[in-house]
Amino acid sequence: MEGTLVRLRAIERSDIDAIMQWVGDEEVTRFLGGEMMLGPMSRIAEEKWIEQAAAPATNTRRFVIEKLGDHRYLGSTDLHNISWVNRSAEVGIVIGDKPSWGKGYGTDAMRVLLRFAFDRLNLNRVSLRVFDYNPRAIASYEKCGFKREGVLRQDKYLAGEYHDTIVMGVLASEYRARLNSRLSP
Ligand SMILES: CC(C)(COP(=O)(O)OP(=O)(O)OC[C@H]1O[C@@H](n2cnc3c(N)ncnc32)[C@H](O)[C@@H]1OP(=O)(O)O)[C@@H](O)C(=O)NCCC(=O)NCCS
Repeated sequence: MEGTLVRLRAIERSDIDAIMQWVGDEEVTRFLGGEMMLGPMSRIAEEKWIEQAAAPATNTRRFVIEKLGDHRYLGSTDLHNISWVNRSAEVGIVIGDKPSWGKGYGTDAMRVLLRFAFDRLNLNRVSLRVFDYNPRAIASYEKCGFKREGVLRQDKYLAGEYHDTIVMGVLASEYRARLNSRLSP
């Protein structure tokens, strides 16, 4: 699935070296939730994760973000907690390659993911959680149409301080309205 800068594709075993470059890097993982905060990930654990992430699952879709042109691995993105009843999902994204931050890749990848979520999976709502100390991510999500919906106060502990988690979401109707306004003359 292609955007203007990146392509989203399935995860392969051969992605392991590129993934290992960033999974132990706290400058990257400090922005991520879940198991990423539990400390360095071993290659064995990461190989197991790839096996599981590559297998089809009913409530998750995971993709590698690669650069268009040279196919270089940049990071990964996913839809998780997909509810086929509520037609909703949560999104996660990481550009693991730090020199590639701030060059538009994350925003482009998110736009491709939203296209997939709304136009292919027919979801109605996509949401995410982002820490208040991540203004780059928040700016990128706002460019994709996400709105701030609420704050989970002191939800996140990092390095001796508690931080707020911001919940953001975008609805299918908002996504389509933005798309139409961009397409209209
Ligand atoms: C968050 C992430 C996916 C964004 O992707 P990216 O390719 O770096 O971001 P983009 O270049 O597409 O867009 C970032 C925007 O934020 C802006 N920005 C950067 N730093 C900023 C700051 N401190 N304050 C406000 N805006 C900022 C940029 O100017 C850019 O907007 P512009 O294109 O209008 O100039 C990527 O940085 C990343 O993976 N970071 C580490 C992991 C992470 O934070 N994951 C998300 C967890 S919720």
